[in-house]
Amino acid sequence: MIIEPRMRGFICLTAHPEGCAQNVKNQIDYVESKGKIDGPKKVLVIGASTGFGLSSRVTAAFGSGASTIGVFFEKPPQPGKTASPGWYNSAAFENEANKVGLYAKSINGDAFSKEIKAETLALIKKDLGRVDQVIYSLASPVRKHPDTEVLHRSTLKPIGRSYSNKTVDFHTGIVSTVSIEPATDEDIENTIAVMGGEDWSMWIEALRAEDLLAEGFTTIAYSYIGPAVTEPVYRKGTIGRAKDNLEATAFKISENLTDLHGKAYVSVNKALVTQASSAIPVIPLYISLLYKVMKENGTHEGTIEQIQRLYADRLYKNGTVLVDKKGRIRIDDLEMQDDVQEEVSTLWEKASTENLAAIGDLPQYKSDFLNLFGFAVDGVDYGKESDEMVRIPSIES
Ligand code: NAI
Repeated sequence: MIIEPRMRGFICLTAHPEGCAQNVKNQIDYVESKGKIDGPKKVLVIGASTGFGLSSRVTAAFGSGASTIGVFFEKPPQPGKTASPGWYNSAAFENEANKVGLYAKSINGDAFSKEIKAETLALIKKDLGRVDQVIYSLASPVRKHPDTEVLHRSTLKPIGRSYSNKTVDFHTGIVSTVSIEPATDEDIENTIAVMGGEDWSMWIEALRAEDLLAEGFTTIAYSYIGPAVTEPVYRKGTIGRAKDNLEATAFKISENLTDLHGKAYVSVNKALVTQASSAIPVIPLYISLLYKVMKENGTHEGTIEQIQRLYADRLYKNGTVLVDKKGRIRIDDLEMQDDVQEEVSTLWEKASTENLAAIGDLPQYKSDFLNLFGFAVDGVDYGKESDEMVRIPSIES
C-alpha cells in the first residue's frame, strides 16, 4: 500500500517501514563513521525502539560490537494498518545487526510487568549468560504497578501554582498561551510512580537475583533539566519530581552493586523531538528556538549524536566516567551553554505566530517529527508501494 502520514494532534497514526529502516541505517552509518568504542559487549536496552533508547542500542551494537536485547512496547502491523514506528525501527535494527553477525533479539510488551521481566531474564540466561550494561530509556504515560495492579498516569503539571506561557502548535505554527493548573499530591505521586526510578531498580534487582549482572556492570537512565522558561512545567513540575526520584535511585542502585563493582548513572540529555517530548506543552516552542540557535552555532545534535558522544566521550574515555557535582553525566552541555540559553531566552520573549518562521526553526521541528514516523526521510520513494506487514526477525508473528 501507499503509506502517507495521518496526523492526530501530536501523534501520527501511520508509520513508513522503508522510512524507519532508512533512519536506522542513517544512525548506524553515523556511529560507524565515528569509529570503534571500547564499550559494553552484552547490553539490555529497555525502551529500545525509538528516541534515545534506539540510539543507545545502535551505538552499543555498531559502535562497541555488543549483543543486544531490546525491550519495547510497540503496535505490530495488521493487514492495511501500519505498525507503530518503533516496530519498524526494531525490525530494521535486527536485520542490519544480523547482516553483520551481531546478536540482536527483541521482546515486545509491557516492561513494567512481571511477565515481561521474567521473559527477558529467561532470554538473557539462555543466550547471553550475563549482561554488562542495562540502558533504561522508557517514556510512558501510564504504568500498571506490578504488585498493586493500580494504573498510574503521569501528568505534566506545575506544582504549587498555575503556569501560563507561550506554546506552539507545530503543525500550524500558531503561537498561543497555554495555562496549566497545578498538580494535586496524587498527580505528583502518580507521575513519580510512572517516570521515577522504582521500575528501574526493580529491573536491576530482578537481574541481580538471577545472577545475570556481570562484574563491573553499568546501568544508565536518562533525565532532563532544561532552561528557566520550561522549569515550572518540567524540572520543577510533576515530571521533574519523577526525574529527581530517578536521579536519587541511581545512588541506591549503585550502593547495592558495590560487590560487583557495578555503577548506576543518570545521563542528562538534550531536549529533542521524540514522541515523548512532543506531548509536553511549551517544549516544542523551546525546541524550535533552540534548534535555530544551535544550528547557527554548529552544535545541533540529534539522539544518535548525543548517545554516540555519551559512549565515546563520557562513559568509555580513558577509563573514567565524567560526572557533574551531583554525580550526573551531562550531555546537555551544549544546550545549556550560557550564550545559547541567553539567545533562546531573548527569542522566547519575542516569539509570535508572525515571526516564528524567521526566528525559530519550525521546519526542522516538523521534519524531525515526521522522521520519527519514517516520513520526509531523504532517499525514500514515498510514491512506491510498501509492505506494511514487516516482521521483526526474533519475534514470532
Ligand atoms: P520515546 O518515546 O522515543 O521512547 C520511549 C521508549 O519506551 C520506546 O521504545 C517505547 O516502546 C518504550 N516504552 C514505552 N512504554 C513502555 C512499556 N510500558 N513497556 C516497554 N516499553 C515501553 O522517548 P524518549 O524521548 O527517547 O525518552 C526516553 C528517556 O529519555 C525518557 O526517560 C525521557 O524522559 C528522557 N529524555 C528525553 C528527552 C527529550 O527531549 N526527548 C531529553 C532528555 C531525557
